[in-house]
Amino acid sequence: MAAFKTQVVSAHEDGAISAAVQQLDAGNLVAVPTETVYGLAADACTDAAVQKIYQAKGRPSYNPLICHVADAAMAERYVAVTAGAKQLMEAFWPGPLTLVLDRLPGSGIAASVTAGLDTLAVRAPKHPTTHKIIETLGRPVAAPSANPSGKLSPTSAEDVLEGLAGKLPLILDGGRSDVGIESTIVGVKGDKYYLLRPGSITPDDITEATGAPVYDRDDTKITAPGQLLSHYAPNAPVRLNATEKQAGEILIGFGDIAGDISLSTSGDTLEAAHNLFEILRKADTMGAGTIAVAPIPDAGVGIALNDRLRRAAAPREAA
Ligand code: TXA
Ligand code: MG
Repeated sequence: MAAFKTQVVSAHEDGAISAAVQQLDAGNLVAVPTETVYGLAADACTDAAVQKIYQAKGRPSYNPLICHVADAAMAERYVAVTAGAKQLMEAFWPGPLTLVLDRLPGSGIAASVTAGLDTLAVRAPKHPTTHKIIETLGRPVAAPSANPSGKLSPTSAEDVLEGLAGKLPLILDGGRSDVGIESTIVGVKGDKYYLLRPGSITPDDITEATGAPVYDRDDTKITAPGQLLSHYAPNAPVRLNATEKQAGEILIGFGDIAGDISLSTSGDTLEAAHNLFEILRKADTMGAGTIAVAPIPDAGVGIALNDRLRRAAAPREAA
């Protein structure tokens, strides 16, 4: 793959959005800010462009991508939107909710986006820069998190540059990501809802919007091939549910456990989500032999935090 001189441009700079749209329209990659994490975007309707995402990330080709749309109307061109899915879009879009819905055949989405599945994951991001880019382009962009496969997701333009410099022409800097962890993914089959990936929008939030229960992903036949166990990993090994620090460790605290650095001293799980990946990166740069993490209650947004932490602590695949 050609090496690029990767440019980081402020999203507020004149012409930044049109430069991004031009690159995407020409089939090139652009890293874009979203409210969850930064995304590595390509025109979702051009297979050669989407292939560049897999190459730049070193992502396995069986792991499908999320299609980012401007709004529900754009989503309806590509997926069958059930009444319940429509309610969820109205309640949470634009925002950190991805819906996996039946793909409309012949809609023009490149085959490599869905990795051969009959379903398509769609999300309307809230960050105004990326919203504007998609609206101007007039079609969706496929975008996974803008990090090398298996590594920590990026919540700033600098994080993207650190992981992917030379692999893309342009990174738009839109500030620190607000939410800090990836979107909640809900699979919709008829009038049933399945949690495929926990996030800041909780199962209770989904139930409140639809009146229906949310089932565990293990109860479904919906495949989420990307949910590999080792993922979101810092360089140092991770030890969970640590109440005390051992030799060589950096302890990441939460609530009453202060640690060397805290996810949230007040025990606020949304604040912890905002800080999670940045603090794991920081623990690496502080030279941790092992990163120990204080217990986090497994409820609400804590479910998503524990999901990411379990993956960070899982045995790594051989490099
Ligand atoms: O917050 C987010 O969702 C971020 C930002 C950039 O929008 N994106 C993100 O993408 O986290 P990625 O590629 O890192 O994670 C996408 C997940 C993968 O686990 C993949 O397996 C799942 O979505 N996925 C995509 N399409 C799917 C489908 N048709 N059925 C089931 N799972 C799907
Ligand atoms: Mg990812």
